[in-house]
Amino acid sequence: MKKSIILAILIVCMFGCGKKETEKLEERGISGERGQKEVKANEELGFIKNEEGFLVHMKNIKVLLKHLSTSINQQNWNDIKEDTKKLKAASPVVFTGANKDDLPLEFINLDVKFHLSALQLISACQEKNKDKATTAFFNVVNSCDECHAKFNKKEASTSWFQ
Ligand code: HEC
Repeated sequence: MKKSIILAILIVCMFGCGKKETEKLEERGISGERGQKEVKANEELGFIKNEEGFLVHMKNIKVLLKHLSTSINQQNWNDIKEDTKKLKAASPVVFTGANKDDLPLEFINLDVKFHLSALQLISACQEKNKDKATTAFFNVVNSCDECHAKFNKKEASTSWFQ
């Protein structure tokens, strides 16, 4: 009696495991090449707690940079001041909604780089020097791209700024 119970458990277990294995294979088969790329990107972004919220924040800073680019061109220093203040407050690390300890060190370092470039932009704009402000602006853009090159492989690194 005991033996047959053990045997039954073994069989169920074997079937159970076998089924999972084929399901996994099927999933991979269906998802194909594009799917695999996405799966990979998602695995890397697992540390983002609320992806939708994170993307909304990212889209907002994209809009901010576009506006800033126009304002710098027109040397509209009042608008520039408002926008750079908002840029300084933006933080990809905070946007993740995750504990700092749970984030990849590289992500944190790239976030720091972005903040430093934003601070340089603020000081360049305080001087009201268009050339300096433009250079500093593109350093900010580079800091965005640098993080995207590593963590947002779904898009070409500069595709957001056009
Ligand atoms: C420390 C890393 C980091 C920095 C710095 C960063 N981003 Fe992102 N950004 C990401 C990640 C990661 C994603 C992809 C998120 C996802 O797909 O879930 C992303 C996605 C985006 C997207 C795509 C949103 C969409 O609709 O798919 C835009 C736009 C964007 N970022 C703008 C910016 C701008 C503008 C800057 C600089 C001012 C910037 N980001 C700086 C990490 C960063």
